[in-house]
Amino acid sequence: MKILNTLVLMLISSLTMASTENNDTLTISSSDFNCVLDMEPVRGFYVDNLIEGKLSETVAVANAEKGEYPAGSVVQLVPGEVMVKHPKGFNAATKDWEFFELNVSAQGTEIGKRGFVDVINRFGGNCFGCHVKAAPEFDMICETGHGCDPIPLTPKITKLLQNTDARCGGRYKPTEEDMAILKALAAQMGG
Ligand code: HEC
Repeated sequence: MKILNTLVLMLISSLTMASTENNDTLTISSSDFNCVLDMEPVRGFYVDNLIEGKLSETVAVANAEKGEYPAGSVVQLVPGEVMVKHPKGFNAATKDWEFFELNVSAQGTEIGKRGFVDVINRFGGNCFGCHVKAAPEFDMICETGHGCDPIPLTPKITKLLQNTDARCGGRYKPTEEDMAILKALAAQMGG
């Protein structure tokens, strides 16, 4: 009995050690996401990094327009959709990207859906299904001309969605025309 207890204790302590050594996993929660306008703008989209001191690496890859994003990278085009890079080897199929659909409001961010190969967005499309079509050197970043199927949003509309992100405290005042565009879009998304 004593030997068995000792063996069990050894097993438990080795398991605990394994999990503390494995500190390169990333825990992502709704509080990690905020007003897109406070992220780093790169061409038409925004980037951030959840790991202290890693933002400049993310910005460097984004500015280069190709290459592998470092772990912790957050990439966002519209307030309701975001992708975050996990440490290398976390999910081979998605090159370690996790896809999120967010519900944003003045109160903050709620995670609607999250996952790897099976997240479906508000337009009925599979995030991974489109982003995997980007040529390998772009690390699943679509932009334009990288090989992804296009999204039904013009650059003007994505800019408007960024500017009117509900978490940004109303720092942009939408015009009448903006309001009409937003209303039509909400209707189109089944609102
Ligand atoms: C129909 C294909 C399609 C689907 C579905 C799709 N995307 Fe995209 N996504 C694109 C394209 C194309 C762009 C680039 C648009 C542009 O720059 O004008 C893009 C842009 C982005 C960007 C900015 C970086 C980049 O790749 O250019 C992020 C982040 C993003 N999408 C996340 C998501 C998430 C998360 C989902 C699911 C909730 C999703 N996308 C669903 C095609 C898609």
